[in-house]
Amino acid sequence: MNDWWKKAVFYQIYPKSFNDTNGDGVGDINGIREKLPYLKELGVDALWISPIYLSPQIDNGYDIADYRTIDPMFGNNEEMYQLIEEAHQKKMKIVMDFVANHTSDQCIWFQESRKSKENYFSDFYIWKDAKSDGSEPNNWGSSFGGSAWTWDDSRQQYYLHYYAKEQPDLNWENPNVRSYIYDMMRFWKSKGVDGWRMDVVTSISKDLDFPDNPRPFTTENQQNGPRMHEFIHEMNQEVLKPFSMMSVGESPAAKSTDGYLLVDPQREELDMIFTFEHMHVDRVKGDVNGRWALKPMDLPALKKILASWQKELRGRGWNALYFENHDRARIISRWGNDEEYRFECATAFATVLHGLQGTPFVYQGEEIGMTNPKFAIDEYEDVELRGNYEFYVKQQQTISEKEFLAAVHKITRDNARTPMQWDDSQNAGFSEVTPWFKLNPNYPTINVAADQLSKKSVFNYYQKLIELRHTEELLTEGEFELLYEDDPTNFIYKRTYRDTVWYVLANFSDQEQIVPEELQKLEGTFIIKNYSDRQTMQNSLAPYEALIFATKET
Ligand code: GLC
Ligand code: CA
Repeated sequence: MNDWWKKAVFYQIYPKSFNDTNGDGVGDINGIREKLPYLKELGVDALWISPIYLSPQIDNGYDIADYRTIDPMFGNNEEMYQLIEEAHQKKMKIVMDFVANHTSDQCIWFQESRKSKENYFSDFYIWKDAKSDGSEPNNWGSSFGGSAWTWDDSRQQYYLHYYAKEQPDLNWENPNVRSYIYDMMRFWKSKGVDGWRMDVVTSISKDLDFPDNPRPFTTENQQNGPRMHEFIHEMNQEVLKPFSMMSVGESPAAKSTDGYLLVDPQREELDMIFTFEHMHVDRVKGDVNGRWALKPMDLPALKKILASWQKELRGRGWNALYFENHDRARIISRWGNDEEYRFECATAFATVLHGLQGTPFVYQGEEIGMTNPKFAIDEYEDVELRGNYEFYVKQQQTISEKEFLAAVHKITRDNARTPMQWDDSQNAGFSEVTPWFKLNPNYPTINVAADQLSKKSVFNYYQKLIELRHTEELLTEGEFELLYEDDPTNFIYKRTYRDTVWYVLANFSDQEQIVPEELQKLEGTFIIKNYSDRQTMQNSLAPYEALIFATKET
């Protein structure tokens, strides 16, 4: 079986913020090419590149106007083909972002579709008449705030958009839509692309009864539609399987108990999914303020969710492991300590994630412990933040500006989108000019060059973890068992393969914690540790201390 991704570590690049080579303040494809040696040094096996196709950039490229053309802002098609080739020469795979739940409203398909009810493209999108009083067809919400329907004057109908109004949802019921998409995937395969990260792929099938959500402008009925599995299976048969393309689908609503339905190899749908369950352990469920209603992170809940995915997918699927991506905040700022224990905390999160069974995804900057900036509200760029601010703070008025900003500092997507911090020179070595989005002001101290020279280098720690993934069968194959699941501060689990047992321990507090007595007695060796002075298992765990200890089964 061609499942190279099971022993791989992925690195996600958010091109706009990675590396600018032509001095326009925006990262570009040549910027990625320039950093291939850096990525090779880190040791990653595959690069997932967020969208670089032609786009008006309402949602930073997740609004695509033409799937086969590289946006001039990032370079051109030739440069992309070069990047693919150069990555391959360095034995790195390239995974592109497949955004096919919706397009940009500037896409020619939508431009034609809105013209009339009778042309070839009319049914490429989801159009509906107004209710008799002129209002929206139902109460569905956009993730970016407000209604998921926008009135179109030319066609005299509403169209559906789960995200911004400039991102109309495609109608997957139409076989011509599906075949256009499959052709686009074959096109990129012919250029050498090895696989796809699939943006909100679990939203492609809509409930054609369009039932109201329990509460207006929420999104409960907008996931896992009736034909989702059928469409994904068809795509698998048409493209993924015949062309051996890897797939990892974004699946916001999947639970550990049903996730296997998307990734069980026998069902021939996807290879992996990104689930959201573990990332919501700091969210007040069902609150009127949606994702902006936060509570302290619940470590036992996090452990149980991760453990349950380990258990449920074992033998019938494969986990994608992540804490950060372009939609998530920096984990150490959100759930840890990004000041006094920044190195310890970054490496502790890395240890527990990379010790699990599955394929780890590292997001740019995570490997040097980049942190959330604390900007003022009007310094942010993100369409999600702006839309939600308008909706919750201004219209609905269920959250104060102050509380909203506090939540923004914890979780907003822009936390991960500040330009990459390469060195302490002007603009952090990211660009010669002022970047498209504000740099985190801490770049003079937190940057790649400084980290690599430091005795406490997050980068070096990641290098080791990635190398372990390549050399240690136990990480790929070993059984998983969560220990002390209710312990509120320590994350401890066990991996077992043949007669070898690894204990993974991390203290997620800034207080010392005692190592459970039975583990103190273990004899063996340290595989990795983030406090260099630790010699035995007897000492208590220092703040954010993490380690992996290998022993033999008794
Ligand atoms: C996914 C993307 C996110 C985007 C949204 C709409 O969640 O990761 O960045 O805004 O889909 O495409
Ligand atoms: Ca540029």
